[in-house]
Amino acid sequence: TQNWIDALAADDVPQDDVIGVDVAGRDIALYGMDGEVFATDNICTHGHARLCDGFLEDGEIECPLHQGRFDVRSGKAMCAPLTEDIRSYPVKIENGRVFVDLG
Ligand code: FES
Repeated sequence: TQNWIDALAADDVPQDDVIGVDVAGRDIALYGMDGEVFATDNICTHGHARLCDGFLEDGEIECPLHQGRFDVRSGKAMCAPLTEDIRSYPVKIENGRVFVDLG
């Protein structure tokens, strides 16, 4: 079964950009891309940086600290210095709200 948690109004997710939100006490990054929303952990797997302070381009979020990049759909680490993928989460939009399943 899925455990959908109401995270944010869909209108508050920036288009082609990223926002950090508290979802049930967890720091989560939400990405608006082409009318869709994707979610990952917000804290980089490399150091203590928040990905919402980074730069979203071509479906990848660039960490503000050492410029590691993750694919925001899969959480896959795309380049050095990253060695660990970041967790990504299912998202659905219903009644104008964004729901995230943190598992
Ligand atoms: Fe994110 Fe180093 S803290 S790349």
